Amino acid sequence: MNKTDLKTLMDSLTLDEKIGQLVQLSGEFFQGQELSIGPSSKLGINQDQINNVGSVLNVSGAEMTRKIQEKHLETSRHKIPLIFMGDLVYGFKTVLPSPMGIGSTWNRGLVESAYKMIANEGSASGVHVTFSPMVDLVRDPRWGRVLESTGEDVYLNGEYARAMVKGFQNDFEPGTSMAACVKHFAAYGAGEGGRDYNTVDMSRWRLMTDQLPAYKAAIDAGSKLVMTSFNTIEGVPATGNKWLMKDLLRDEWGFEGVVISDYAAVFELIPHGVAKDEKEATKMALEATVDIDMKTSCYVNNTKELIESGELDIQVLDDSVWRVLCLKNELGLFEDPYREASIEREKAQVLTQENLDVSKQIADESIVLLKNEGILPLDKDSKVALVGPFADSRLVTGMWAINADYASVVTLKQGVEKNFTNVIHSDEIEIKEDLEEFGAMGKMLLSQFKKDKPESEVSIFDTEEFEDRDVIVLTLGEHILSSGEGGSRTNLDLENHQMELFRKAKQTGKPVVTIIYSGRPLIVDEVVKESDAVIWAWYPGSRGGDAVAEILNGTTNPSGRLSMSFPINVGQIPVYYNHFATGRPFGSTSHSERFVSRYLDTPNEPLFAFGEGLSYHQSEIKNVKLDKESYKIGDSIEITLDLINHSDRDGQDTIQVYVKDHVGSVVRPVKQLVNFEKVAISANETKSISITLDQDAFSMINAQLETVIEPGEFTIYVGFDSKVEEGITIEMN
Ligand code: BGC
Repeated sequence: MNKTDLKTLMDSLTLDEKIGQLVQLSGEFFQGQELSIGPSSKLGINQDQINNVGSVLNVSGAEMTRKIQEKHLETSRHKIPLIFMGDLVYGFKTVLPSPMGIGSTWNRGLVESAYKMIANEGSASGVHVTFSPMVDLVRDPRWGRVLESTGEDVYLNGEYARAMVKGFQNDFEPGTSMAACVKHFAAYGAGEGGRDYNTVDMSRWRLMTDQLPAYKAAIDAGSKLVMTSFNTIEGVPATGNKWLMKDLLRDEWGFEGVVISDYAAVFELIPHGVAKDEKEATKMALEATVDIDMKTSCYVNNTKELIESGELDIQVLDDSVWRVLCLKNELGLFEDPYREASIEREKAQVLTQENLDVSKQIADESIVLLKNEGILPLDKDSKVALVGPFADSRLVTGMWAINADYASVVTLKQGVEKNFTNVIHSDEIEIKEDLEEFGAMGKMLLSQFKKDKPESEVSIFDTEEFEDRDVIVLTLGEHILSSGEGGSRTNLDLENHQMELFRKAKQTGKPVVTIIYSGRPLIVDEVVKESDAVIWAWYPGSRGGDAVAEILNGTTNPSGRLSMSFPINVGQIPVYYNHFATGRPFGSTSHSERFVSRYLDTPNEPLFAFGEGLSYHQSEIKNVKLDKESYKIGDSIEITLDLINHSDRDGQDTIQVYVKDHVGSVVRPVKQLVNFEKVAISANETKSISITLDQDAFSMINAQLETVIEPGEFTIYVGFDSKVEEGITIEMN
């Protein structure tokens, strides 16, 4: 539809019809399946209001979405189609590894194509907007939603954000693409104490330095929507925060798309204590330019009165309605309200072998080998004892894979049996979680995963068949509902009974290869020390069983590198690589040992650092050179180097480039990732690589909140992880 016709359409809407465009309801209001997560309560909304609604949350499936759309178009006076939005955070029916795993791939192109696959599946099933990417920066693994993030780094998260948005939106082709909604704006990952929905408070300088760039990257890549976060920013909840949403996002950044509240976040301005009732909450959110109210009765029941009494300028409402109608128009819904979704397309595009292969490919690169005392890869004829709660589990998709097709998930047992000739298996322990306690999601999982066998009473280690085993492959981890939304924890240890199983395995004297499944870093000091090898699988998704098994036998050479530091203990949190320099750095100060920045009882360094991970080949970086000795501000820098593979195995290396700014007008991180390149390298090959740093690599936010490059000395480090120590120092003037 052209803009003039769209404007005519908007002008013909009644006030109620306009308000309806700003309301989003979930499946239950349309006789769909209720998949949304959040406090369910009666909303006091009548049928007429439902008929005017502008969008629907978390309903999918071509049959259902088409039915709802068809019925809606019959009742909508102006035949304005609904937008179907949903949480396709890291997969639809085919599930990718959970985002911490995606973060470990360090592979922009692969991430983009994998997100294209999600869009292809979801749009065939009638979803128009995905509530993804989630780009919240995370440095506190107590927060359950670390699961949904790609990690602790401002630059890396921005790179993934861009790749994901490009993958989803894919030039906006109907039937194969969807609009992205970057979330949760802003700084949702920085809640105090790692507790979900908790207060966020930090200087604006810190917010701009660390937190905002990844959202900005998603918006610059074209993300059509932004979702507000539940937390406060400078004392005002994001959903009612005019500075954040209007002054910064719209006026300064120029964002013209749709802002949607997070689930019930408009209403939550009341319990936050910044609005006294729904009417005040509505006014606050609309004036902050929050266009869509997700799943509350605030907008639908209060906007009219606010306009009629003159308390709210009608222009504010009109601007929001216009943005929603423009989104519908850009999606092409006026021409085709189904956006080419159909049962036939769904059959052709969802859960195809090709999609499952994409999931496998990204899983291959997401898994991180953290320790290997030479035992891996295992010979495929090794006699394997496969043990532990994840050994034969299909619950390896992570909490936000709400549309996952569990039947197609490959378990590790299935993968190991395909890749090894001699395997015995035991389910001797379950994860001791009461799924009922996890509410609706837990019940949904319970109904799909009835325990069909009791835990075995005899330990596999005490059986005769175990005696001739060469190796124990032990799976440990956290239940998928232990992380994710509402999954904050103060104790990140593995459950006691899992640790007992681990110690029992050790007592057998056989080598133990431990595979850990989780949504976030856990505290695993003892397990790492005592295991012969440790593989971090995250939640590896639909083809996880194949991916892990092929790493075990060496079909795949692991290439995952951590995108979040692993603390030694909870007391160390937050621990991250790019911390600021202090006046009393440990190890390099004239102060005596005690009065320096450190813990008396724990090292400052994490158990595993950002960027770390092992492979089965050994590479070396040599002959690092820069194109010049001194640079002018604004110059780009060309780095050249040789990458040498000293082994007989093909592999992939991630070359990471960090910069240290020696003196700034404000404190500078000890090191900051500024670029990286994942490189495939053949056995015994030497490859010449060049990596360019543009001026952004040297920029910073000063105390006046301006983005600047300050002249002076910078050291450029090129290495395989954030622990790299040798660098080249340059002058930039
Ligand atoms: C979550 C969002 C999600 C929304 C809709 C909320 O509880 O915070 O990430 O997109 O629900 O399901």
